[in-house]
Amino acid sequence: MKSIIGIGNALTDILAVVEDDSLLKKYNLPKGSMNWVDSETASTIWNEIKGKKVQIVPGGSAANTISSASILGMKSAFIGKVGDDELGRLFKEGQQQTGISSILLLGTQSSGRSMVLITPPNAERTFANYMGATLELGPEDLDESFFDGYDILHLEGYLVQNHDLVRRAVEIGKKKGMTISIDLASYNVVESNYEFLHQIVEGYVDIVFANESESRSFTHKAPEDALDSLAEVCKIAVVKVGAEGSFVKSGNLKYKIAPCPAKAVDATGAGDTFAAGFLYGYSCGLPLDVCGKIGSLASSKVVEIIGTKMDSATWDEIRSGIRDIIDQA
Ligand SMILES: Nc1ncnc2c1ncn2[C@@H]1O[C@H](COP(=O)(O)OP(=O)(O)OP(=O)(O)O)[C@@H](O)[C@H]1O
Ligand SMILES: [Mg+2]
Repeated sequence: MKSIIGIGNALTDILAVVEDDSLLKKYNLPKGSMNWVDSETASTIWNEIKGKKVQIVPGGSAANTISSASILGMKSAFIGKVGDDELGRLFKEGQQQTGISSILLLGTQSSGRSMVLITPPNAERTFANYMGATLELGPEDLDESFFDGYDILHLEGYLVQNHDLVRRAVEIGKKKGMTISIDLASYNVVESNYEFLHQIVEGYVDIVFANESESRSFTHKAPEDALDSLAEVCKIAVVKVGAEGSFVKSGNLKYKIAPCPAKAVDATGAGDTFAAGFLYGYSCGLPLDVCGKIGSLASSKVVEIIGTKMDSATWDEIRSGIRDIIDQA
């Protein structure tokens, strides 16, 4: 089985169940909204909620994919930047418990976090996000030796805030003969970095993961035509269409991958978990339709839970489902 190293924003997901709206009012967070907060607000909110009922999980797109790949049995590593603080240490511990070799460099700012305040009466979610040290990860931080011993380099599109970082990562990956995969992250990331992402995907990327809106922003086409365009510029193109499933294409081989039935409650993590399942199949040398089916199975389980952290019984179900998929192939 091949091994994988990911680079991404080391963001900790903090879910806090709070008793009323007082914190939302105090920090001017409209109920149900997504907000960027500054360093001071990030640390005061964290100090206020950490004594409450909180769930703290290492998050971020590439980190989520690497975590699932590691749980599926791949040798896995992650490069990111955190602050020299409690949340940074918790991020590292969380990754290590999942078997990931964490290469967490230290920034000068505090650790990045996505704080979700869950309020009554309907468990509404209000986000207070802070990027902090994650944004300090730069090209100079990438030591070539970090990549030694890994076959696949996986990047999240959110890294394009730093073009030089992404360019250096893919150059090292190429030089070392790695398979390079990227998840395009979000349609606005694609729109605001259109030229740059085209250069990177066309020049370096082997596997591209895009959802419907990202593939449209990248190609100005509807999903199946977008798939064709993407497959012309890289080895393997994957276009995901949510509850409708996904499409995979490489050269002249094209597959429609059916979704697995799910009782969806929270779509968070669907794309990251799909990528992990797909890359796991790829790393075992399985045919691309089988890789897609594994991605489809794994992602259908994560949409059935709130958040991204599936319990061990669910992972056992996924492993057994993967064995069935492989047996039937
Ligand atoms: N309701 C659902 N039921 C079953 N499978 C689903 C459902 N929603 C998503 N999936 C699976 O997850 C995959 C990825 O979902 P989606 O197309 O939403 O990607 P994404 O937008 O990148 O996700 P994310 O919002 O996590 O970034 C789909 O291709 C599908 O296989
Ligand atoms: Mg996505």
